[in-house]
Amino acid sequence: MAYEIKVNKIPQSRIAQLDQKNIQFGRLYADHMLVAHYEDGVWGSPEIVPFENISLSPATTFMHYGQAIFEGVKAYRNAEGGVQIFRPESNWKRMNKSAERMGMPDLPEELFVEGMRKLIEVDAAWVPTEPGCSLYIRPFMIATDEFVGVRPATKFTFMIITSPAAAYYSKPVSIYVQDEFVRAFPGGIGMTKAAGNYGACMYPAQQIQKMGYDQILWTDGFEHKYVQEIGTMNVFFVIGDKVITPDLNAGTILAGVTRDSVITLLKEKGVTVEERPISIDEIEAAYKNGSLKEAFGTGTAASVAPIGKLTFHTDVMQLRPVEEWETMNWIKTTLDDIRYGRKADNHNWVLKV
Ligand code: COI
Repeated sequence: MAYEIKVNKIPQSRIAQLDQKNIQFGRLYADHMLVAHYEDGVWGSPEIVPFENISLSPATTFMHYGQAIFEGVKAYRNAEGGVQIFRPESNWKRMNKSAERMGMPDLPEELFVEGMRKLIEVDAAWVPTEPGCSLYIRPFMIATDEFVGVRPATKFTFMIITSPAAAYYSKPVSIYVQDEFVRAFPGGIGMTKAAGNYGACMYPAQQIQKMGYDQILWTDGFEHKYVQEIGTMNVFFVIGDKVITPDLNAGTILAGVTRDSVITLLKEKGVTVEERPISIDEIEAAYKNGSLKEAFGTGTAASVAPIGKLTFHTDVMQLRPVEEWETMNWIKTTLDDIRYGRKADNHNWVLKV
């Protein structure tokens, strides 16, 4: 079914508010947003309208019971001055996995991908030209029944908003390995981009931020032994000549699109990548014997972010200067070359706007 996407343009663009030399993540939003509603089992046609506040009943379901999911995607300014979106189809597939687990309706590909393409076309001027910058795209779906009884909702709203972005982390991140609180259990929602996953991490994050750390590296909920993910990022370790990242089999880790891109590119280069359980003991042992060469996180917002310091209890693992890291620097450059159109897109990852 073909959707007709109506466009209602803002009378006067706010683009003058964008200072490309001083972009802060998630502070300024582009002129327009996309909105579509689901009712009686069908999605209505999406509309592109000026970015503005929305009005909702205080009884709206998602505010009470958390039926809310989201995605993170980026659009880049390419070498010819055009705009391209990185792997929107993969995010569409993942959004539908989150939707299924959260009892929310499937989104048609056209609504997600073509709706996004059209929105970025309308707001193309908001895709920064500054090196290393991009337009962060945030699709999300919320349950909108006006009902505080507990039941899966019947009405939903899908929206896409966008915001210019520079580097999410400006320096190597310091990470605290968490073995008290738990992010996810098998059978839970750890593999989804459900809002509640992030909400549940706020208190533990506050605690470690007070100690001067940026983020938590979560461990499994049974033994607190196997590392999982960082919440904002998946995690990779370079040990000896191998790259190791936790596998997704238990359903407790988000299947990152950047994670998948990194694994694909490293394997094509001939690097041995192991997706398997990796314990904090193994990481500490590798640090002590000098074989832990690099540790980094990957995510849409964070891109590829080096871990400068990793702390488990009182053991502090301080990694070598990032300039010496061969694998991470190679993967970051290679990914950026594809995202910014400086290298051939052999995987069909790029959607030109
Ligand atoms: C993303 O990387 O897109 C995320 O959703 C993570 C969030 C920290 C911004």
